[in-house]
Amino acid sequence: MPDQGDDRPIELAAAVAGVLPGARADLERLVRIPSIWADPARADDTRRSAEAVAALARDAGGRDVRIVAAEGGAPAVIAHWPAPPGTPTVLLYAHHDVQPTGGDDLWTSRPFEPTERNGRLYGRGAADDKAGVMTHLAVLRAYGGRPPVGVTLFVEGEEESGSPTLTTLLREYRDALTCDVIVIADSANAAVDVPALTTSLRGLVDVTIEVAMLERQAHSGVFGGPVGDALTALCRTLASLHDARGDVAVAGLVTATTGAPDPDPDTFRADAGVLPGVELIGTGSVAERSWLKPAVAVLGIDAPRTDEVANVLLPRARAVVSLRLAPGDDTAKAQRALAEHLEAHVPWGARVTVTPGRGVAEPISLDTSGVAYDAARRAFAEAYGTAVVESGLGGSIPFIAEFARTFPGAAVLVTGVGDPASRWHGIDESLHLEMFGRCVHAEALLLAELAARPSPVR
Ligand code: BES
Ligand code: MN
Ligand code: MN
Repeated sequence: MPDQGDDRPIELAAAVAGVLPGARADLERLVRIPSIWADPARADDTRRSAEAVAALARDAGGRDVRIVAAEGGAPAVIAHWPAPPGTPTVLLYAHHDVQPTGGDDLWTSRPFEPTERNGRLYGRGAADDKAGVMTHLAVLRAYGGRPPVGVTLFVEGEEESGSPTLTTLLREYRDALTCDVIVIADSANAAVDVPALTTSLRGLVDVTIEVAMLERQAHSGVFGGPVGDALTALCRTLASLHDARGDVAVAGLVTATTGAPDPDPDTFRADAGVLPGVELIGTGSVAERSWLKPAVAVLGIDAPRTDEVANVLLPRARAVVSLRLAPGDDTAKAQRALAEHLEAHVPWGARVTVTPGRGVAEPISLDTSGVAYDAARRAFAEAYGTAVVESGLGGSIPFIAEFARTFPGAAVLVTGVGDPASRWHGIDESLHLEMFGRCVHAEALLLAELAARPSPVR
């Protein structure tokens, strides 16, 4: 590029390098706010988090910066940078809410005390998705608050709760959010030095199953034998969710068939923390199993704690079952299939109630043709010095399907701000700091590439 007499990329790289220390400091500031929207006790923190994001947007030159919320919904931030004439408008999306910590004491350093170790910044939300928030803001700062395209920043606050009020927000702020390209900085790169564009995501549904056997607790010696207990009945029901090989046994679910490059199973095992000797379950390639096929997991069980047990047969027991859906599947149909499977597999005539959960996300599969994708491939390859990997991922982002329906003309790009070692949702979540710099550089270059395209760019 520089050889062509165009020194814009060099200047941009320098501008990005110049804003990174400040962006990192502000990322730490955001991580210190425990914005766990799913926890009602943290609602004020989530509001503080939105205010902090809004203040950063204002500092980065944003206009009409607003904190908006639907009735009962989390605070989201909308801000604008007007489009220079003839340029497209790009919507930059991230979320400022985070997952619960999973137990503060289990962390190496406190989850809301951002701490650097070995080039990584540890803290809840350091990657998912406050790194996404700061990527966008750092890009806007690198451009001195005057990006070469129109920008709308949209930072929602209830992604980790399944974005339940997003439809309402979209209806209300449709005009403010209209755009030609959407950049969703909320996924993972292939490695810290290999950029990725996520081309499909799985869907998600969950249900609560309650099994009832007895009117009350009964002595496990006097009655045990002829009388069963509800926890065992629940476990037998849950055990029916997989077949002997570990594939999902629920009938009627979609399995997608796109050919996909397979990640290295050993790296995959290590990233997940699978213990030596423990098998990966199910059949097919790792890519198939992690993003092209459904997956089912039991997320929690209501039952007595092991240090509080009594010798009684339990009258009732409850569990939450979560089902990831392959691209192409239908959430309502799949949720029904899961409920019917559970109802049909409860043993011993036990009573069963299956209640649909609230966390629903549609699977998505993105169209990767068109000038926005071409621009992204060029920009990301330049920033990382290596070609972009395009692949699906097993996680879910509930916002995307709804957004794509609302703005069918817009190209949707899902970019990485984490890497396979980020431990999304886990203990010791972290962001690779050098990669964060590359994320900002890549997105800055993307805006420059898009500026050279007439609007609309799809
Ligand atoms: N950013 C993640 C999704 C993700 C993680 C995509 C890693 C690709 C790679 C997002 O914040 C998330 O956790 N989504 C939830 C959605 C749910 C609450 C409806 C998920 O996947 O569990
Ligand atoms: Mn996320
Ligand atoms: Mn998440």
